[in-house]
This record gives sequence, structure tokens and C-alpha cells, in this order.
Amino acid sequence: MTTHNKDNALFGSGDELPSNHSSNPHMNELIGELNRRQVLAGGAALGALAFFGVSLPGSSEAAEPAAQTLGFPFAPRSRLPFSPVAIGRTDSISVPAGYKATPFIPWGTPITGRYPAFLDDASNSAQDQAEQIGMHHDGMHFFPIDAQRGHGHGHNSNHGLLVLNHEYIDAPLLHPNGPTVVAGKRSSAEEVRKEINAHGVSVVEIRRNVRGDWEVMPSARNRRITAATPMQIQGPARGHALLRTRHSPDGTAARGTQNNCANGHTPWGTYLTCEENWAGYFANRDTTLPREQKRYGLRSTSRFGWDTLPGDEFERFDATRKAENASGDYRNEPNQFGWIVEIDPFNPDSVPVKHTALGRFAHEGLVFAPVRAGKRVVCYSGDDSQNEYIYKYVSRDKYRPGRSNSQLLDNGALYVGRFNADNSGQWLALDVNDPAFQAACTTAGVTFADQGDVLINTRLAADVVGATKMDRPEWGAVHPDTGEIYFTLTNNTARTTADAANPRVANAHGHIIRWREESRDHAGTNFAWSLFLLAGPPADSRSPTGQPLDASNMLASPDGLWFDPEGRLWIQTDMSGSQLASGPFGNNQMLVADPKTGEMKRFLVGPLGAEITGITATPDMRTLFINIQHPGEGSTATNLLSTWPDGPGKRPRSATVIISREDRRRLL
Ligand code: FEO
Ligand code: CA
Ligand code: CA
Repeated sequence: MTTHNKDNALFGSGDELPSNHSSNPHMNELIGELNRRQVLAGGAALGALAFFGVSLPGSSEAAEPAAQTLGFPFAPRSRLPFSPVAIGRTDSISVPAGYKATPFIPWGTPITGRYPAFLDDASNSAQDQAEQIGMHHDGMHFFPIDAQRGHGHGHNSNHGLLVLNHEYIDAPLLHPNGPTVVAGKRSSAEEVRKEINAHGVSVVEIRRNVRGDWEVMPSARNRRITAATPMQIQGPARGHALLRTRHSPDGTAARGTQNNCANGHTPWGTYLTCEENWAGYFANRDTTLPREQKRYGLRSTSRFGWDTLPGDEFERFDATRKAENASGDYRNEPNQFGWIVEIDPFNPDSVPVKHTALGRFAHEGLVFAPVRAGKRVVCYSGDDSQNEYIYKYVSRDKYRPGRSNSQLLDNGALYVGRFNADNSGQWLALDVNDPAFQAACTTAGVTFADQGDVLINTRLAADVVGATKMDRPEWGAVHPDTGEIYFTLTNNTARTTADAANPRVANAHGHIIRWREESRDHAGTNFAWSLFLLAGPPADSRSPTGQPLDASNMLASPDGLWFDPEGRLWIQTDMSGSQLASGPFGNNQMLVADPKTGEMKRFLVGPLGAEITGITATPDMRTLFINIQHPGEGSTATNLLSTWPDGPGKRPRSATVIISREDRRRLL
């Protein structure tokens, strides 16, 4: 989701407003007089030295010896053998010579039920939408059809399940003439049901046909999960008093997942969808908001006004207290959002699970450290809002291949990151039974009743322990060989105080940070970090080699991030409308960087007004899937700012894009 509209008026698209008003110091208040020039000149370089063999705290015990990167800068041959794509501002997709990009499963593609055809004037019904691909494609994963056999990877590159998120909607394009609003309220239940059904997740079985082209199969596995699909709540907060609602008086059942941004996939072959900018979908008109809503930015009005319609299915978006207790109203409904949700895509009857142990915030995505049989699983997630945090989860129990491992995400330790000025870092436990956490709570004068309370109030718990406020943590990716973790920090124009890990105030361009865990199994609490990249124009940027970015690789607002199996880092951008209009960067794009050499090139430029997001590949790396979200953002039925992918006169539609080489060999 882009940031062009921060006012969050009815139907405005935009990220949540910052809600971290904690007194947590920015890093350089802790370290004194660190100055921005020193950080820019030395911080990134220091980090680079650390990763290229110079010892840092903990580096001697890191997962992979520095020899992996000692080739820099003498690498014999480029691992990016393509000509960089030029910055562009056309309403099309550009890829390097020798490659092709083919739109696939755009919004409205029929996948299940009656397979209702998409109607160009957007007159499909709410029920049609529940049987079609949703709007605003985002995080995505390809599961080979044999993914759940063996160790959860699978090898089939010609047949599998494509699972993708639908982050939000452009209501003006979802309905023939936009949404109907009467006196500030929604008047059509059918319209709002269509909006609810355009959110969520799609599961689509796809296969290559005899010509080698990918096709949707009419399959019993095809499924739409929407913002109304029944879900179960698991983990320490299951049944918590703050999760009880009129629909679920015992606090164990939820309806729907929404604002599903980035994603994850488990080692056991299931999909993880992450609830990001959900807060704006709820209204609470009480005079005083409880902390579990105030700290998440709830307001007295909602973005789409779903709460303004009568009926239980809509009233749940109104968190105003109306009954004597929580079992009689929806005061706690917003507390059922902000979680990581696990979906078994191979079982269309499975009930999705909200895993509360992973914390509640504006989850962008979830990435796993390399997993080994008999070891705990470790994963990372960013809270994408200005000045929010990066989190880590370590399971209590061990991974056992071939068994059901879902419960690994229900019992474990949640930590939040502190990035120190000397490039060291700590994971701080958010555990009601941890003495250091208890001491921090006492100092801060904050009380948590139990671990469920900590998890429902994850942001507050992170404030209390003094986590580092980051520049909007978006996607993460883990290097397949070194185990280093990379995270995009997309931008933060609200930053007024620089620190080592977030070195620019009013950071409009964003950067990429990476770290190496001190412990070989990733489960420890110390790490060493460095800056991989400062995005921006040549005069205000730093490439992975330490040089300014240039015409072949300048970018802003890095967002999507993915390592291919050979350790190349794919970077996708989500520049806002104003940055697209006024910046030197052209349309949103995708680049590839080689951490081994520091080489980085632009691989793709997208159509007008779209962000590039979501990325996954077949095991043979002959097919790459990416998503184009909100082409022509800001369009209405009578003012189309893009007509991608269908061409002149047609409404723009979010879609997946299949990228392959014309000679059908591996992509790189
Ligand atoms: Fe939905 Fe943080 O992007
Ligand atoms: Ca973004
Ligand atoms: Ca994103």
C-alpha cells in the first residue's frame, strides 16, 4: 500500500497514521552526539567491513564464516547477466531483452463456485466476487503440488498452488460507479459485502499446458478466503477476555482476515498471511479508547464505513461500547486483527488459524531462518508503520519434518530488536515471566495481566523494553547460504532524529538493513547489523558497493524483498504517488542485487501508478511470479489513470505477472 494519502478519509487509500507516541528514545539520544554525517560516511562502511571479514561482536560465532563474502570486490563473473532496464513512465511492463512478462489472474478472474466471468463494467455481484480473484494482489507463494510430501519443499515446477494476498480495494473501481454513500453512511449491504469479499487470500491451482503456458485449473482446491471467512484463534491469547465478542463469547473464534500485505510460508508447506493496515477499518466512538486500540491508531470513523450499516456482519466493525459486557457488543473485534494467519492451501476445508504467539501489530510479513530437523524454528516480522519495530520469534519446541508442526507457532518466545550504534544488537524478550521485562514494566509503570495481554498489546510491550524505532519495516528475506537477515525500511518522513540504523531524518527514500545472528541456530539474543543500501537519487544514496546509486539502479521506497535459491536479492519498490510524480525514479520497479559482489541492476519497471509487490518462483527458477498492485491508483470509472493490463478503455486491474526467459531456460 502506498502512502500518498495520509488523511484516511472515507475511501482514502493509505497507510495507518503513526501511533507510536511512546517516550522511547531514538537511538542517538541514547548514545549522545552521533552525527548524521558520521553515520552516512562511516556507519554503512563499518557495517560492510563487519560483513566482509572484520570482526564484530559475535561475528566469530556467526552462522557462516566471512569467507563467503571474501570474493568482493574480485568476483570473476557477474551473476546478473542482463542489461539493466531504464527508468520508465509508460503504462506497461518492461523487462530486459530475452525475457517476457505475461499478466495472469487479474482481479475478477473466476476461480471457484460458478466461475462467474469478470464483467468489464464491474457489475459483478458480491457473491461473484467471492468466487473470483480479489483486488490488490500482494504477498504470494508458489507451492509445488508435492510441497507437503517429504520436507515441505516440493520439486514440481509445472504444477502447484499459487496463493496470494489481496491487501485492500479501490472502491471507485470495485463498483460500476463507485461506492454509494448517503449522509456519510453506507447504504448498500451488497456493495459492502462485495468489498469484504474482495479482501483476503486466493488459492489457485495452476499448471503448465502442452504449450508450456500457465493455466488456472478448475480445482476443488481453489478457494477464496475473505474478510468474513471463519477462523480460529490459537496461542497464548486464545480465549483472552480482550478477544471476547458477541460472535465469540469465549474469545476463540474470529471472522475474516484483511489487509493482508506480505506473507510467509512454513517449512511444513502452509501459507502465512499477515494483517497490516487493519486499524482504519474499525470505528470506536467512545470518549476514551483502550490501550490495545489507541496504540494501534483506531479512530472514531472507519475508512470504508462498513460499520455504518445495520446487521451483525457490519456492526462488528464498530468497536464502540454498547452492551453491559464484551459478550454483547464488538468492543474487542479490533483485537482479533493484527495477527499472522496460517492457511493450509492443500485442504480447502481447513479453518485458518490466527497465531497469537507471533504478536499483534501491523504485520508486514513473516520470514523463517533456515530450518533444521530437531531445532527450534526462528522467524522475523516487521511492524510497518512509522517508528515501529522489528520482531523475532523462537519456538519452544523443535521442528519435526513430516509431522504437523503448526503448533510450533503457538508456543514460543517473542522478542523485539534494539539496534545499537556500534552495530551490535539485542533481542529483548516480551515475556511476562522474564525478570528483565518485569523490571522494565515496573520502571515504565505499565502492567500486563498475563502473556495474552502482552501479545494483544505487543507495541506497548516493545515500547516498555526500549526497542529501536525503525523507518517502517517492510519485507524481510534470509540469505539461503549465510543465514543473514535483510529487511527493507521503506521510508519515514516523520523521523526527526537520526540514529545509526536509521541514519536520515525525514527519510523519504528508505534503506535496507541486514544482520547476522551471533548464535548458529539463530535462537540467541545478540546480533551484528549493517546497512546494505541507502536508497535515493545519486546525490543521496549508497549502493551495496559503497558508491552512489546511478541510472541503472537508483530506487526509492524499497518494500518487497526475496532471495532466490542462489543468493541474489530481489528488491521491489512502493513509491508513493507524489514520489512517482516528482521523483527521478520513474514508475515502481524491481531490481536484483548480488550481496556477494555488491552489483545491482534494475530488472523490471511496472505500469503507471502501480506498486510492485509479491514474489515467488518455481523450484527450477524458470518461472518467476510477481504482483502488480493498484495500477492507475486514484482512478475512477470515468477517469482511468492506467488501463493496464487490458488496454484502452478498460479499468486497470491488479494482476500477477509471469516472468520467464524467451528461451525457457533458468531466469538467471
Ligand atoms: Fe502493505 Fe507495508 O505494505
Ligand atoms: Ca509499502
Ligand atoms: Ca508492502
